Amino acid sequence: MISHKLLSHTLFSKCLKGTQIVQYKYIQVSVIGAASEIGKNVALLLKLNHLIRRLQIYDDDNTVHGICLELARIPGGPTVTSFSGDIFLPAAVRYSRLVLMVSRVPRKLGYTREQMLEYNALPVQKICRTLPEHNPDAFFAISSNPINSIISFASALLNNYRAYNKYKLFGITTIDTVRTRALLGNALRVNPRHLHVPVIGGHSDNTIVPLFSNILPSHYSITQSQAETLTRLVRKSGNDVLNLKVGVDAATHAMAWSINEFTEHLLEALCGGYTIVNSYTVNPHFGTKFFSGPNKVGPSGIIETCRSFVMSEYERNLLDQAVPLINREIAQGEDYIQEIESRKHF
Ligand code: LMR
Repeated sequence: MISHKLLSHTLFSKCLKGTQIVQYKYIQVSVIGAASEIGKNVALLLKLNHLIRRLQIYDDDNTVHGICLELARIPGGPTVTSFSGDIFLPAAVRYSRLVLMVSRVPRKLGYTREQMLEYNALPVQKICRTLPEHNPDAFFAISSNPINSIISFASALLNNYRAYNKYKLFGITTIDTVRTRALLGNALRVNPRHLHVPVIGGHSDNTIVPLFSNILPSHYSITQSQAETLTRLVRKSGNDVLNLKVGVDAATHAMAWSINEFTEHLLEALCGGYTIVNSYTVNPHFGTKFFSGPNKVGPSGIIETCRSFVMSEYERNLLDQAVPLINREIAQGEDYIQEIESRKHF
């Protein structure tokens, strides 16, 4: 009969063998804005990720150290280290393969995403000033609103600092594919995990364009009137959450979930593979400088951006209406650097 000691040993070595088959890489990820509602949830979800060896969490708010202590005392997952204050920002991003910038200031009732530029530009500026010297090769992904302007703002800033790598700058728009899949799964009464729908355009009420004519697996389809209803629901999801939270906060849990999903995809690329991730990146194929959609990413960054889709007439109209709005918001981001660079910060 097998002894208790031997049984534990057998189980233990099985567990060890199990860990050996995981492709374990030394990947360090930084989360900037980690004491915000979104940031702390992102950090918790990333603590579950076995491809991450070290998690660096940063916030201007000192409570980030408490969040770190909590996470550090959960067994397993990445080692967590916290940083707070401008002088520690370089240490927080140094050696990270991926730097995630999470919105620090939540949107309040009465504000559009577009109006968030003045709140979120300053923290983005700080990172854009820090990365060139302390981690110029990192993938840099931003989830702060307004995505349509903040990415052009960040790219113009990085360009000024001679550190812009267009293959490594991402606006995180997975929230739109996440919502689209969830709503579609409900409509079709199937598990949304198995559904894929490209969502293109930008990330604001009138620029999100879900392509329900491109559902995968392709044996699923919905009617035109269902597509119109679901499109409306996807587009107003952010505002619906804000209203139901009585205007004190915008979506935080779903944002964290989708940032985590985005990160999981990107880690596949950082570990040497290739992945498709919905993101707002440089993309000249639709009449704008930046555009959101499913893009192919590899270990060195974006390999191929989406370039064309078969679309219904309804989707084509939505896209035609979105393009001038995206262009206007891109220009707002680029123009904003004059305003912010003339102020004395940092
Ligand atoms: C969302 O779509 O929920 C996010 O962009 C957060 C917000 O401010 O609405």
